[in-house]
Amino acid sequence: MLALLLSLGACRPTPKPPAPAVDTALRHDLALSEVQAAYLQRLAAAADAHPDDAALHKASGLAHMRFALSGVLSLQARAERDLELALRLDPSDRELARALGRFYNMRAVERDGSKATAQIEAYRAYLGDVEVARMSSEQFVAYAFSRLGQLLELRNRGRMLAAYGVVRQLEAELRQRTEADPDDLELWAVAGNFAFFFAGNIPTGKRERVREAIRYFTRLRERWGELRAGARDPEHCPNTYENFMFELAEGHVALGELEAARPIYRELAQPREPITRPKQQIAFVSAERLRNLEGYAGKMELMPPWPSDVGNCVVCHGYTSEVPLTTLYTLTPITLDDMGPAMARKPVPTVASVPDAVREVIARACAPCHLEGGVADPFARLQGDASLLLHSAAIGRRVAAGEMPPDRPLDPADAAVILGWLGRVPKNDVPAAAEGSP
Ligand code: HEC
Ligand code: HEC
Repeated sequence: MLALLLSLGACRPTPKPPAPAVDTALRHDLALSEVQAAYLQRLAAAADAHPDDAALHKASGLAHMRFALSGVLSLQARAERDLELALRLDPSDRELARALGRFYNMRAVERDGSKATAQIEAYRAYLGDVEVARMSSEQFVAYAFSRLGQLLELRNRGRMLAAYGVVRQLEAELRQRTEADPDDLELWAVAGNFAFFFAGNIPTGKRERVREAIRYFTRLRERWGELRAGARDPEHCPNTYENFMFELAEGHVALGELEAARPIYRELAQPREPITRPKQQIAFVSAERLRNLEGYAGKMELMPPWPSDVGNCVVCHGYTSEVPLTTLYTLTPITLDDMGPAMARKPVPTVASVPDAVREVIARACAPCHLEGGVADPFARLQGDASLLLHSAAIGRRVAAGEMPPDRPLDPADAAVILGWLGRVPKNDVPAAAEGSP
């Protein structure tokens, strides 16, 4: 029991057998492009120049946060500082409180409890005094995340038994609420996520927790398309589906259910557009699992599913960032270098990385058909920076082939602007197998 509580309190994956999977590079901190750096500098300077302006700090904080989440880890501290100051200046900004509360989980996954109290306070600012039973679904999701801060804080104070009590209570609440509302898929997603997390972090009851996680995620898989659009929003989280489904497959394998896992890995092994680096990594690891599936059957070491460190945030939120393989369990060592073309040092394409010149060409030459309601809307809505990033592989392909616009090829100067921009998203970003996949 003591061992259980200690390891739980630390929110630390149980020590694994001498880790077979070793990554060469622990953390890739990505470079920013000039455009991106200038953009962030502008926001930071404006915030610094007006220490009493909540809106400016919020803008700077959210921008730095997005880049941090998508892999520029060095921006985490600046993001926190701006968001914290903004919240101090305007404690009534609940949206901000929620974002900050969630952002602190970047520490929680690193077992860093130094902001646990701040996290609890941020969530308190968001939730107020509402009772759990009366929370909306959205509030309950935030509440569930807030419990992570509480766990870390109890650990800080050495109160392991209380920490385990929090886990059990949260598990019961998740079970109850998902049963009461089988159609609230987001809740099912959160419940599955926590079940996997606890399965990996608490030495007892692993199988039961994995079984429960599978139950939650299987429903999610069956009904993915019904999930609230925001939760599938590719701007912040282009890889959510892949990450969840990878966890599901790993759970099946840990329980020895190879036939259930196989089709999921097969699907993941062919990354779908929009292609991102984390999706490629998941595809790479899925292919490895398929090759050695028998060997993994029943291996509880697969829990928690990879990645269970700060990569846990990047794997969903990243575009070109590499997710460290440090917490990946494999039978034989694999490294990022085995994956082929490395993009680790490329600037992160994320919102606000699109140059004005590209925006201008798209608005003039593409938007007439590619805006909401336009003839090409169902194929690719090119509206906003995020959509350009998401469709960048397809845009590059179609423009390079002279196929877009369909009626007349793009003016060569305009084509050069677009292809020049995409030169930063290397062509080998898109594996041949992914071309033309849905
Ligand atoms: C399984 C995919 C997934 C993982 C893993 C994930 N996120 Fe997210 N994240 C999302 C989705 C989806 C949203 C958008 C949810 C919404 O719109 O309600 C989101 C939203 C957020 C937001 C709110 C953004 C805003 O502007 O309010 C923050 C902050 C955040 N995530 C931080 C993190 C951190 C920190 C981690 C790692 C501990 C992480 N996320 C891991 C999918 C993920
Ligand atoms: C005259 C209308 C029109 C204009 C202008 C136009 N498109 Fe399209 N686009 C379409 C139609 C119709 C489709 C769907 C049929 C197809 O894929 O050929 C499409 C599909 C696409 C797709 C998605 C298909 C895929 O390969 O994934 C992309 C990306 C795209 N266009 C990019 C562009 C870009 C970039 C421009 C501007 C340089 C542009 N389009 C200008 C009509 C247009």
